[in-house]
Amino acid sequence: METESHSDVTPYDEVAYPCRAHQQTHPDLLATLGRLFGMQPAPVDHCSVLEIGCGDGTNLIPMAYSLPGSRFLGFDLAGLPVAQGCSVVQKLGLANVTLSRQDLMGFALDSGPFDYIIAHGFYSWVPLQLRDRVLEACRATLSPHGIAYISYNCYPGGYLRRMLREMMRFHVQRAPDPATKIGQAKALLGFLADAPVRTDEYHQILKKEWAQIQQRDAGGFYHDDLAEVNQPVYFHQFVEHAGRHGLQFLAEAEYFMMQDRDLTQEARQALEGLESDRLLREQYLDFIRFRRFRQTLLCREEVPLRSGPDPAVVPHLRAASSARVQAAETGADPAAPVNYCNESGGVMTCGDAASKAVLKSLTEAWPHSLVFRDLAERVGEAIPAASPQESESLTVRVLLSGYGLGMVELRTFEPLLAFDAGCRPVCSPVARLQLSTRDVVTNLRHASVGFQGETMRRLVPLMDGTLDRAELAVRLRQINPDAESIDLILDELIRLALLLPSAG
Ligand SMILES: C[S@@+](CC[C@H](N)C(=O)[O-])C[C@H]1O[C@@H](n2cnc3c(N)ncnc32)[C@H](O)[C@@H]1O
Repeated sequence: METESHSDVTPYDEVAYPCRAHQQTHPDLLATLGRLFGMQPAPVDHCSVLEIGCGDGTNLIPMAYSLPGSRFLGFDLAGLPVAQGCSVVQKLGLANVTLSRQDLMGFALDSGPFDYIIAHGFYSWVPLQLRDRVLEACRATLSPHGIAYISYNCYPGGYLRRMLREMMRFHVQRAPDPATKIGQAKALLGFLADAPVRTDEYHQILKKEWAQIQQRDAGGFYHDDLAEVNQPVYFHQFVEHAGRHGLQFLAEAEYFMMQDRDLTQEARQALEGLESDRLLREQYLDFIRFRRFRQTLLCREEVPLRSGPDPAVVPHLRAASSARVQAAETGADPAAPVNYCNESGGVMTCGDAASKAVLKSLTEAWPHSLVFRDLAERVGEAIPAASPQESESLTVRVLLSGYGLGMVELRTFEPLLAFDAGCRPVCSPVARLQLSTRDVVTNLRHASVGFQGETMRRLVPLMDGTLDRAELAVRLRQINPDAESIDLILDELIRLALLLPSAG
């Protein structure tokens, strides 16, 4: 790292941004959507990835750890987070990831090609010149079947945030430092929300926003809500901007957000009229949902794309599901529909034998994924009268339906994950290191896992393969005599996708 002069200090050096891993930016998720919509993206275990505005590398480093055959480059204007990230890279001994301090304006446009480009929390947060540059950089450095992920705040939901932001920025304009600004802005919002004796619609909205903001990290609140630049755009404006740079809309990173199953029959029928214009359909979905944030995937404009997912690709993908049977359903009549629910509150009702067989197999296998052939076989066993072709097409239908509900993950790649804890359990080195500074870690499927209690925070770092189960049990009793058994804890760590296959 170069030594910085005072003038180099950016707001992100002064107030830390709460960087974390974003599963929806993972190249495997991008590759899956690319394949479903007709692309031939690079295999994720041999690809090149660029992250623009990578902060301290919390998103990129776990990807580099789990994909040792791929190459990762991240840069950010702020020196301090980059230096912290470099120290993590060094501690983990990763040779396939480079983090550097760099202004996007000076980034060489012949640096590519990159198979995947990530710019999370960047586009809306920077001035117009940089918004242009991020798209210019994507066009210049994306490989022919490369995919760019760009997130941004959007309208119409962005108007609500903008209203609060303008009031808060007015209120804190003379505050001398970031801490005072954060304190004063929160105080204003609380005051406004609680001021009137009778709560009208406006104050109901304020109360809801105030409740959310109270939960937020101070750094995130400062940079997202009080920063000088935070410019939402309509989806159609973003797509038009991308088009000017030779890029086209591929899909939303969260595929379930492109679906309309949460809408009334009338609304779905109206949207059906827009099936031929998927961009218009997306825009109207935003109007309906008062959407405020998007995570859009782009590719080169010359790549031929399908208008919907290709069912023929599904048999070449892996599938996984962390859903659970709704508690009240267990033990019910075997012929009755089974409801599966996920952590975000989504529900998938499985009424037929094929969907029951698929979801049962997937949820039992979690955190591991299954290949399509295994799932089609289970469907065949559940419906003996079905031919192999019928079992396969039923399996495709269930998987696409579950994927659209956010209940089933489709993937091209399986990370190394423990089936059992083995004699000397090994927890992901990334998570072990992260636990020394934070209580939210990144698991081996690139999802965030929170640890509340001291017990896990102290126990997990000991799981480096040097202690056996008995020794870990002793340490556990020393840390917390009332803790549950080591076996239960290890089972939970497997389910959380935090344990590596052990040698012993
Ligand atoms: C809202 S933060 C997002 C950080 C990270 N991507 C995340 O989502 O956690 C925006 C990041 O963009 C970086 N940034 C702003 N202007 C930049 C520029 N001109 N070149 C490179 N990075 C820049 C900031 O330093 C900051 O780390």
